[in-house]
Amino acid sequence: MKRKLMKKTCFLLVGWAVLLGTAESREVDWAALNPAFADAIFVKDKQVCAGCHDKSVEAYSKTSHGRLFQYGAKNALQAQDCEACHGPRSKHVAAPDASLQFSDEQYSEICLQCHQDGGRLYWQTSQHKTGEVGCVSCHGVMDELSDKGLLAKDDEPAVCYSCHAIVRGQMQKSSHHPVREGKMACSSCHNPHGSAGKGMLKGATVNEVCFSCHQEKRGPFVWEHPVVREGCANCHDAHGSNNPDLLNAKGSFLCMQCHSYGGHINLPRYNRTSNPYGQGCVNCHITQHGSNHPSGVKFTR
Ligand code: HEC
Ligand code: HEC
Ligand code: HEC
Ligand code: HEC
Ligand code: HEC
Ligand code: HEC
Ligand code: HEC
Ligand code: HEC
Ligand code: HEC
Ligand code: HEC
Repeated sequence: MKRKLMKKTCFLLVGWAVLLGTAESREVDWAALNPAFADAIFVKDKQVCAGCHDKSVEAYSKTSHGRLFQYGAKNALQAQDCEACHGPRSKHVAAPDASLQFSDEQYSEICLQCHQDGGRLYWQTSQHKTGEVGCVSCHGVMDELSDKGLLAKDDEPAVCYSCHAIVRGQMQKSSHHPVREGKMACSSCHNPHGSAGKGMLKGATVNEVCFSCHQEKRGPFVWEHPVVREGCANCHDAHGSNNPDLLNAKGSFLCMQCHSYGGHINLPRYNRTSNPYGQGCVNCHITQHGSNHPSGVKFTR
């Protein structure tokens, strides 16, 4: 009995040691990132930096990091202030030069000392990380350029478009989600830090993302249109389209991608496509997303 207890305590102690170990090891090994840091110590006083970098210090002091680290640092890492991101600077202050610079990728490791949690859960496997995009490709932390999120440009889509020009083109189309109007952002649907789903989407599937705002399309319906269950993207281009309602094909052609020879299609009475830009099939098949009407099996009610 006593032995069992001792064993337990032992495990507990080991557990604590491991925990403390990881807590401390969150700080990067500066000399490993850049050998020029060997033997350098922390200055821990941004007034020293201000002597030569007054503009940088002034702009930085207004950012969330600047305010928090100066007045409300919650741990030793935060209290390092400038040096939490720039490493121990004693050697730099004694002989200033630019030999202590970091690459974008190294900065990501530095940011992750404090930001491994939350939205960054899937960072390591994200297309951005594997595509060699760093935190500082999207974030500018030395100055408050955006209303929130310390972005490198004043608004989020502008940050994304600097690399995703094709998406900018899609968002210019006549039917589009109101990103251009500022009512939504790319991060309404994507987590730029990575996600468990594909395409860095915020849901496990495309549909889960869409349902977060278009709940009424979730169903379940008495009569399901299997193609809707399978994916909204079968008929809609989420980024934009020159057809109404973000549709990926015009009027009847949308449905005829799959139903060309089915049912009544060849009967002129039903093929009301006299106005080729009109809605054609959905004039009658008004519940194409699914129907709850007892006789809605053909999505006509
Ligand atoms: C005596 C003047 C002086 C002081 C004090 C000083 N610096 Fe510098 N710093 C410089 C000079 C000069 C450069 C090189 C500029 C260049 O060549 O681009 C520089 C460059 C930098 C850079 C950009 C290059 C790099 O190493 O990443 C950073 C960041 C930096 N300093 C941070 C700091 C911090 C943090 C402090 C306070 C702990 C500080 N400096 C104190 C003069 C100084
Ligand atoms: C949250 C991390 C972080 C903190 C804290 C921070 N910096 Fe920086 N700093 C950066 C990054 C990242 C860059 C590189 C800019 C880039 O590539 O976009 C940078 C760039 C600089 C530069 C180069 C010139 C410039 O403005 O771009 C200087 C000088 C500098 N920092 C000084 C400081 C000083 C002084 C402090 C404290 C008063 C400080 N930094 C605090 C991350 C930080
Ligand atoms: C020493 C710890 C630490 C380091 C290093 C650090 N941060 Fe932060 N960061 C914080 C804390 C603490 C907050 C504010 C807490 C919060 O609101 O979650 C914050 C907030 C932020 C925010 C939100 C700010 C806002 O105004 O909405 C962004 C974006 C951010 N950090 C990016 C970065 C990037 C990019 C780097 C690396 C260049 C970095 N951080 C390095 C601790 C750190
Ligand atoms: C592809 C662009 C991009 C990259 C790369 C990126 N971010 Fe972000 N980040 C954003 C956007 C967009 C937001 C949302 C801004 C807002 O609040 O509107 C954001 C928000 C944040 C926030 C504040 C909200 C939150 O999730 O806590 C933090 C902290 C943050 N990023 C840290 C990081 C760190 C650390 C890295 C690198 C490991 C990183 N980011 C890489 C685009 C990016
Ligand atoms: C309404 C939701 C939504 C919004 C808003 C949105 N996206 Fe997407 N995005 C998607 C979907 C859905 C996909 C397809 C994902 C898949 O099937 O892999 C996608 C795919 C992508 C891709 C992969 C390439 C491609 O075109 O398939 C990129 C890059 C992308 N989005 C960038 C952006 C950018 C940048 C913004 C902001 C300007 C943005 N997205 C806004 C839903 C959205
Ligand atoms: C510095 C350049 C850069 C910036 C800025 C950038 N991206 Fe990317 N993005 C990439 C690269 C590189 C990839 C990976 C290669 C690829 O698939 O094109 C990628 C991939 C993606 C993908 C996944 C594509 C897929 O095929 O699954 C999405 C979604 C995406 N980015 C959205 C965004 C959003 C949203 C923003 C703004 C918050 C943004 N990106 C900002 C460079 C960038
Ligand atoms: C963050 C909320 C949000 C998400 C997520 C979202 N939407 Fe939307 N959607 C909107 C808003 C807002 C509108 C514009 C409504 C308006 O203008 O009345 C809209 C409009 C639409 C329209 C009509 C477009 C038009 O031209 O009127 C379609 C179709 C649509 N969304 C499909 C989708 C699909 C498919 C997805 C998933 C890939 C999706 N939405 C994800 C918010 C969202
Ligand atoms: C079989 C093709 C098809 C699929 C799949 C599909 N839609 Fe639609 N959707 C349409 C058509 C056609 C319209 C235009 C309806 C009209 O003009 O009356 C439309 C219109 C919309 C609209 C705007 C009008 C409205 O009803 O609110 C939204 C939002 C929308 N769809 C969301 C979704 C979502 C979310 C999904 C996935 C769950 C989805 N759609 C899947 C064909 C489809
Ligand atoms: C991507 C392929 C695809 C597209 C596009 C599509 N459907 Fe379907 N549709 C299906 C499939 C698959 C079924 C189920 C067929 C079955 O059960 O025999 C179906 C079933 C139907 C049914 C019920 C058929 C029956 O036999 O009970 C109707 C009505 C229908 N679709 C109308 C439409 C209309 C209207 C559109 C355009 C708004 C459309 N579909 C677009 C694939 C599609
Ligand atoms: C004038 C109204 C009307 C128009 C327009 C119309 N449909 Fe129909 N459709 C119906 C009705 C009513 C039924 C049910 C017929 C029945 O039960 O025999 C039906 C049945 C169907 C079926 C199921 C056929 C079966 O074998 O049970 C499909 C698939 C279909 N329509 C697709 C389309 C497509 C695709 C278009 C556009 C090219 C279209 N419909 C245009 C009224 C219409």
